[in-house]
Amino acid sequence: MPRLHNFPPVRSGPILIAHDGSRSAELAMEEAAALFAPRKALIVTVWEPGPAFQALAAPPMQLAPIEIRTALELGEKIYERAQELAEQVAERARKGGLDASGLAVVDDLTIGQTILRVAKERGAPAIVLGAHGHRVVREILLGSTTREVMLHAECPVVVVRDREHK
Ligand SMILES: Nc1ncnc2c1ncn2[C@@H]1O[C@H](COP(=O)(O)OP(=O)(O)OP(=O)(O)O)[C@@H](O)[C@H]1O
Ligand SMILES: [Mg+2]
Repeated sequence: MPRLHNFPPVRSGPILIAHDGSRSAELAMEEAAALFAPRKALIVTVWEPGPAFQALAAPPMQLAPIEIRTALELGEKIYERAQELAEQVAERARKGGLDASGLAVVDDLTIGQTILRVAKERGAPAIVLGAHGHRVVREILLGSTTREVMLHAECPVVVVRDREHK
């Protein structure tokens, strides 16, 4: 066995746990607690503003003020739900021994790229995800977010498979 002495950079941020509210993500969080407690962890939920909200950012727009308000309110509701989810998961993660907090982040380009950006910004030593999310399709080995993160992450990635979904 050759000695490489090629130690990776020290990443002193929290373990990033990506959570979309699915059973797979919850299992991933529990595995992360078993593996990494009592370390710092950041539960990240990426939220998508939705078509009405996105339309506002794409001029030329001819929305009536009432439509703009509805779109903004809808966007805000989705954000609040994501923040709530992240915080509730963080609370459960703390019960599992992690020093966890929750964060809702708006989708940049893809969910995967958003997770990768946050991991880099926070200096995450590892990213934890479920093998699947909400759109679990049995024939597909890994969800698209997990695939993208695994392909491009600069840090180790822990993927947790739900053994009931073989
Ligand atoms: N919006 C999100 N915010 C945070 N993490 C997410 C989000 N979506 C997915 N993940 C993470 O990625 C894991 C795999 O989900 P993914 O979206 O890749 O699969 P899927 O929903 O089954 O399929 P699809 O490729 O159709 O989305 C989840 O268990 C979760 O850890
Ligand atoms: Mg998904």
